[in-house]
Amino acid sequence: MMAWSVILAVVALCLQPILAASSSGCGKAPTLTSPNAYSLTINGKSRQYFVKFPANYNQTHPYKLIFTFHALGGTASQVVAGTGGYLPWYGLPALDTGNTGIYIAPNGLNNGWANPNGDDLALTDAIIKTVEADLCIDQAHRYSTGFSYGAGMSYSIACSRAKDFRAVAVLSGAVLSGCTGGNDPIAYYGQHGVSDNVLPIAGDRTMRDRFVKNNGCTSQSPPEPAAGSGTHIKTQYSGCKSGYPVTWVAFDGDHTPQPKDKGQSTTFAANETWAFFSQFKQE
Ligand SMILES: *[C@@H]1O[C@H](CO)[C@@H](O)[C@H](O)[C@H]1NC(C)=O
Ligand SMILES: *[C@@H]1O[C@H](CO)[C@@H](O)[C@H](O)[C@H]1NC(C)=O
Repeated sequence: MMAWSVILAVVALCLQPILAASSSGCGKAPTLTSPNAYSLTINGKSRQYFVKFPANYNQTHPYKLIFTFHALGGTASQVVAGTGGYLPWYGLPALDTGNTGIYIAPNGLNNGWANPNGDDLALTDAIIKTVEADLCIDQAHRYSTGFSYGAGMSYSIACSRAKDFRAVAVLSGAVLSGCTGGNDPIAYYGQHGVSDNVLPIAGDRTMRDRFVKNNGCTSQSPPEPAAGSGTHIKTQYSGCKSGYPVTWVAFDGDHTPQPKDKGQSTTFAANETWAFFSQFKQE
C-alpha cells in the first residue's frame, strides 16, 4: 500500500508540469474584478496589487499572467494609469490585440523592490496563488517585466523562480532585489541605454551573461550603438537551448523606460518586449 502510494505520488509529481497548465480558477466565475486593486498580508505587512483582465474574460480560457513592476519612487497606480513616464502596464495590453494576457501591477514597499528577507518574492508567489485560484491562467505562461528597480525585481524572479515563469524582460536594470539561486535557464530579454547615468550598462551586461550561460547560448559581445546615433541594436543570441532564447537590446540613450529611436514618436521597448513574450505559443 505504502509503496504504491509513494509511486503514485512520484508519477503525479512528474506529470505536474503538464497537468498544472490550467490554474484552479479555470471554469469558475471570478470574484476579482478588473481593473481593480487588492491587498494581501506578507510577513505581517499589508501589500497592494492591481489586476487587469479583458472585458470579454472567458473563464474557461487559460490566459498568460504578466507582472509589471514599477521603478524606484514609482507606484503601481502609475503603471496602471500610464503616468510618471510609464505606458499603461508598460504598453503591453495595447499590443496584446488577441487579449491573451491578465496583467498584474504590484506596489513595492517604500516605492521599491529591496526584497528584504525575500518579501517581494513572497508577494509575487502570493499574488500568483490568489489570482490563479480565481482566474483562469496558463501556468506555463507567466511573465515579468519592469524598468530600473522593476527590472531588478524581474531579474530576481529570473534567478529564483525560473521554473515558474516563462520569460522576463529586464529594462535598464541592476542587481537590486538580489539573485538567490540564479542557476536555472529562463527566456531572457535585456535592454539598456549605452549612456545610462543611473545604472551603468555594464551591470546589465553581466546579468544578461548569467542567462546566456544558463540557457546554453553561445557567448558573445553584442554590438552596441554609438552615443548620438539615435538607434538601438537588437541581438538574438544563437546556440541557446530550445525554448530559452536570450535577446539583448542596447540603445543610444540614458535611463528611461521608453527609449525612442531618432525620428520615432513611439518607444520600441513595449514592441520588443511584446515580441519577445508573444513568441512563446500556448498549447
Ligand atoms: C472560451 O475559451 C474556450 C477555451 O479556450 C474556448 O473553447 C471557447 O470557445 C471560448 N469561448 C468564447 C465565447 O470565446
Ligand atoms: C510599436 O507598435 C505599434 C503598434 O503596432 C506601432 O504603431 C508603433 O509604430 C510601433 N513602434 C515602434 C517604435 O516600433
